[in-house]
Amino acid sequence: MDEIEYKMLVDYISKMIGIDGNIYKDRPFKRRLMVRMRATQKNRFIEYLELLKKDNEELDKLKETLTINVTRFFRNRETFDYLYEQIFPPFIRGKEKIKILSVGCSTGEEVYTLSIIFKKLTERYNFKYEIVGIDVDDDAIKKAEIGMFKDYSLIEVKEKEKDIYFKKIGEYYSILPSLKENVFFKVIDIKDETILFTLGKFDFIICRNVLIYFSKMFQNKIFNTFYELLFPNGILVLGKVEILTGNSKNLFKPLNVKERVFLRIDN
Ligand SMILES: C[S@@+](CC[C@H](N)C(=O)[O-])C[C@H]1O[C@@H](n2cnc3c(N)ncnc32)[C@H](O)[C@@H]1O
Repeated sequence: MDEIEYKMLVDYISKMIGIDGNIYKDRPFKRRLMVRMRATQKNRFIEYLELLKKDNEELDKLKETLTINVTRFFRNRETFDYLYEQIFPPFIRGKEKIKILSVGCSTGEEVYTLSIIFKKLTERYNFKYEIVGIDVDDDAIKKAEIGMFKDYSLIEVKEKEKDIYFKKIGEYYSILPSLKENVFFKVIDIKDETILFTLGKFDFIICRNVLIYFSKMFQNKIFNTFYELLFPNGILVLGKVEILTGNSKNLFKPLNVKERVFLRIDN
């Protein structure tokens, strides 16, 4: 009974806010759902479903709880420093254009971090770049497009960088327009392969702190999709707590295990 009610709730959530509970790890997904159920004093899935049907504000709160948008500029600074110093220079050499995909980009901090890095690299190397950030959460994407950030987002940004790349407006740091130039944001669910493939192929995919929420089966599927989305010898970067699963270990070779940097294997 409980399972049937749970399934009805999951189907409704998928239909109304586009978050498909079936691809996420079951327990954490349920746990987050129950956070909202407790907050609204609903004990049964069916009661919470009834509430969602008539309360749009609760639907928004649930979306916030399920998507977990936590992010910041230069998150785990050492990974971005390593990419800037060791990975990108030889990778860029000889290429006219680099295409980058940030999957689960949330409110844009990861994308603009890469924009800062690639802008700096264009001062040393002659190439063009394009960064595409995607997320299932349309509100997060709207914020990303605006590009205004509070203190918390900048805790790993150096003071000198704050002066160069941001304009302070009240309590916000606004990213400079020049850093938005080659940047595009789109609302896309990574489970929608056909839409993903319309973006074309990429040289570099960064997908950090997103896959931890997905079931092992879906993680395996998405690694295969990333393989197809990358050009030969393309690079994949994962979050610090994420690892390759199943047959994906045969698709990518680690370049740096600690920083979770992988190379697409091409024979
Ligand atoms: C914790 S944030 C990670 C942000 C950033 N990558 C970072 O590491 O700082 C996870 C993001 O993944 C997004 N996400 C969750 N499921 C998704 C899906 N099916 N497709 C696309 N994005 C998804 C969430 O909306 C959220 O913004």
